[in-house]
Amino acid sequence: MSDIYQRIYQRKRMSATDAMSLVENGDFICVPTGVGEPPALLTALSEQRQTFHGVTVGQILPLRKFGYIDPATVDHVHHLSFFYGGATRPGGQEGWIDYLPSYFSEMPSMIMNRQIRVDVVFSMASPMDEHGYFALSLGTDYTMAAVSMARAVILEVNPNVPFTNGNCHVHISHIAGLVESDEAVLEVGLPQIGPVQEAIGEYVTDIIDDGSTLQIGYGAIPDAVVMQLSHKHDLGIHTEMIGDGILKLLECGAVTNRKKNYLPGKMVATFALGSQKLYRFMHRNPMLEMHPVDYTNDPYLAARNDKLVSINATLQVDLLGQCCSESFGPQPYSGTGGQVDFVRAANRSRDGKSFIVLPSTAKGDSISRIVPALSPGAHVTTGKNDVNYVVTEYGLAELRGKTARQRAQALIGIAHPDFRGELSEAARRLKLM
Ligand code: COA
Repeated sequence: MSDIYQRIYQRKRMSATDAMSLVENGDFICVPTGVGEPPALLTALSEQRQTFHGVTVGQILPLRKFGYIDPATVDHVHHLSFFYGGATRPGGQEGWIDYLPSYFSEMPSMIMNRQIRVDVVFSMASPMDEHGYFALSLGTDYTMAAVSMARAVILEVNPNVPFTNGNCHVHISHIAGLVESDEAVLEVGLPQIGPVQEAIGEYVTDIIDDGSTLQIGYGAIPDAVVMQLSHKHDLGIHTEMIGDGILKLLECGAVTNRKKNYLPGKMVATFALGSQKLYRFMHRNPMLEMHPVDYTNDPYLAARNDKLVSINATLQVDLLGQCCSESFGPQPYSGTGGQVDFVRAANRSRDGKSFIVLPSTAKGDSISRIVPALSPGAHVTTGKNDVNYVVTEYGLAELRGKTARQRAQALIGIAHPDFRGELSEAARRLKLM
């Protein structure tokens, strides 16, 4: 059988330049999260962009600034952000890159229900196995749904992409074009951790019980928490992003996945972001399953784990606990991602805990990130009815089950001491004290 698949493979193999003939004017091209973006295909699209009209590239967290991300050629090919990253943030803030608000968990259903219309998929993929399957292991996310809806699926097959377990496989019969590349998968290092991040990490780790199952979000503080969990026992992983922090916890024996009551013994994730070591670890590892994001981030499924802990960062919190995690006022900065999915999952989990973490100030201590009201135009990511623990370097405020007044008091108590006076005055004006 594998001979037949090899023959089909050779028939579908083409250059990245030729693969662009499978794209039509007006198409929507769906690209996976982060390192799942296929560099040869997106470079070829960039080079030929002037020959197209009205083509959209939709993606969460693009990492490279490809040539098509260019205000001068948006009529030809333009980016649509599901979550801004460094490559697309300037375009979002200047107004020539639009964004699509959504919960990460719901993107597959939006694709299946044609609220997001997908014509073409461009994705990195592992080499084909003997049964004719490729693994979309770096970004399984919404891409599996896109594969099922697209007119043309074009894979960039790279021997450095791991073949993983889980629902992340695409059969050669679904593929319109195969392009080969062999450059190393992009590495994303762990961020620098300073004393503020460390202090926040300590407050969080102090109340994480042995046997908890973790979701680790995106940003410096979630990573700082992970680095302080090495003395814990029997932790489990049910997350959206697998990174090097989780790998370190596994190596030191803190993660065993034994106490998970949903998929015991297994870690689940929907995209990867890390080092070559992480990508090698993922390869045919029975302990890890990569699944679509409507599975990993489904709050009801994740909540089947008792003691589910979610750790996510924010930019600004008001005195009710409403979190703006993705914009400065109306100006977009990142996106919603899976933050709300996992806050809700932790709230539903027996003895679960959701942590929203942030330094108490920004801009060299000149502004407080705990504020009486969010900046005008701010995008509310986690709402007041969902939020639970908010943590700064000054402590931890538990908000669920607390009244508006109790919340204001608890949040002022973890604000930077220089701002507590003015926050208390504002709270009195708002009749919160
Ligand atoms: N006012 C002005 N500037 C602010 C600010 C505020 N209220 N809050 C933060 N900033 C600045 C910081 O000083 C920093 O500036 P610098 O880059 O010049 O140092 C920058 O904004 C980023 O803030 P920081 O706290 O370092 O962000 P981070 O890299 O740790 O990421 C989020 C934090 C919130 C942006 C990121 O976690 C996110 O996008 N979350 C939403 C989605 C999510 O949680 N998904 C979950 C799983 S992926």
